[in-house]
Amino acid sequence: MKVAIVYDSRTGNTEAAAGQVAQVYRDRGHEVVVTSVDKADPAEAATADVLCVGSWTRGLFIVLQHATPATIRFIDALPSLAGKEAVVFCSYKLSSGKLLPTVASLLTKRGARVSWQLAFKGRTPPATLAQLADSLRAKP
Ligand SMILES: Cc1cc2nc3c(=O)[nH]c(=O)nc-3n(C[C@H](O)[C@H](O)[C@H](O)COP(=O)(O)O)c2cc1C
Repeated sequence: MKVAIVYDSRTGNTEAAAGQVAQVYRDRGHEVVVTSVDKADPAEAATADVLCVGSWTRGLFIVLQHATPATIRFIDALPSLAGKEAVVFCSYKLSSGKLLPTVASLLTKRGARVSWQLAFKGRTPPATLAQLADSLRAKP
């Protein structure tokens, strides 16, 4: 499978999370391209079988958390994702609030099937990352 990972990172945590997600797929032999959102081409990213989108959490720390404007602009510029799988991830400090389900619903509206939502506290891998790895392991 071809996997595209697009992330927005200000101080490196989301970039590190993108690297951890990439490693999970690479460990299973998948082809992975990791790109920061400012360099990503939405049309190119949408050619992957799996599109992973990651943002740092922006908000008032305990309320009004949202993905970054650059992340939303990237999603808005995507062509149809019909038939594609998507994974959403974020890094946060205190709480990511509704960031992940909100980003997931934007990708769902474009036709993707969102299979995983991963919230990294700083750079700490969430339990869902291990579950994602297990699910790939189960595939032939
Ligand atoms: C302006 C600003 C707003 C933030 N708002 C939140 C927030 O609402 N909730 C939260 O948990 N972390 C918040 N953070 C912390 C970052 O989301 C967190 O440190 C994240 O891991 C940074 O990712 P990065 O290293 O990829 O830039 C905020 C940081 C900044 C600079």
